[in-house]
Amino acid sequence: MVKESVQAGRRSFKSLASTIDIVGPIERSSRLDRPIRGLAKAVRRRIGPGRLRDLLHGVPTGKPLHPPLVTFVVGCWAATSVIDLTGTGSRAARTVLTAGLGAALPAVASGITDWSVIHREQQRVGFVHAITNLTAFGLYAGSLALRIGGRERAARLLSYAGLGAAGLGGFLGGHLSYRQAVGANHADSVAHLVPLGWYDLCSLNDLPNGRPVARRLGYIDLFVLRVDGEVTVLADHCPHLAGPLHQGRLVAEGGAACVTCPWHGSTFRLSDGAVVHGPATAPVPAFDTRIRRDGVIQVRPAQR
Ligand code: FES
Repeated sequence: MVKESVQAGRRSFKSLASTIDIVGPIERSSRLDRPIRGLAKAVRRRIGPGRLRDLLHGVPTGKPLHPPLVTFVVGCWAATSVIDLTGTGSRAARTVLTAGLGAALPAVASGITDWSVIHREQQRVGFVHAITNLTAFGLYAGSLALRIGGRERAARLLSYAGLGAAGLGGFLGGHLSYRQAVGANHADSVAHLVPLGWYDLCSLNDLPNGRPVARRLGYIDLFVLRVDGEVTVLADHCPHLAGPLHQGRLVAEGGAACVTCPWHGSTFRLSDGAVVHGPATAPVPAFDTRIRRDGVIQVRPAQR
């Protein structure tokens, strides 16, 4: 009897979960791939590598820029509706609505820059997320125009509709962040997988000179570069979306040796894994190295 009810409970939970999976079909559908491809390419061309792009990704602060900007925008818009509902001041409502519209511009710029360098399934959800948020922007802009024209009642209705669209956009944004891990640090687990201490990695003679290779340390994939008698070791997974860094290009940036991720071009300093260029905003975990007398390379998580 108990077993049957547990099974029935499981069945109804499963059917509820599949009923509310409205994002899965978007993620899997290739219908919008052509405009997505074209738009992503145009964005990458328009906002080319450099300071502006790094700024829009959030490289200077080490955190993605889009989430805090969006939080401010949605906060302003939600406040507009609260003020409207309580009738505490049309001037205050107009002020926070305008602040939200103003902050939406950099929020869109940072969001679309992040979006242009993610996987296709993520771009599909991101595309619909952008449409819903642009709809919200249009509704709030219309609401502001009506408020300026003195049509308060219609303006409030438009704001409520805008809040609904922004809510849907937020739901999709949540899926992007928490299910599809856009903006998350994909190399963070490394620090938890390697307890402190020195570990044997491989023999110096087993490594090619001047060409990065992948090696494993327990569960961890490592980027290993030998240049004559010097060995550099970083985590191999790019913090942006886990691209294989050992397949990247070795470059020099500001006099420092770096590696550029083969997937979306994040660039990391070899000496400490610091981000030189995005889209990654988190550094790649670095390892200290030493070479034993018998030529065995030992590594440990960097003590910095
Ligand atoms: S995975 Fe995107 S830059 Fe490395």
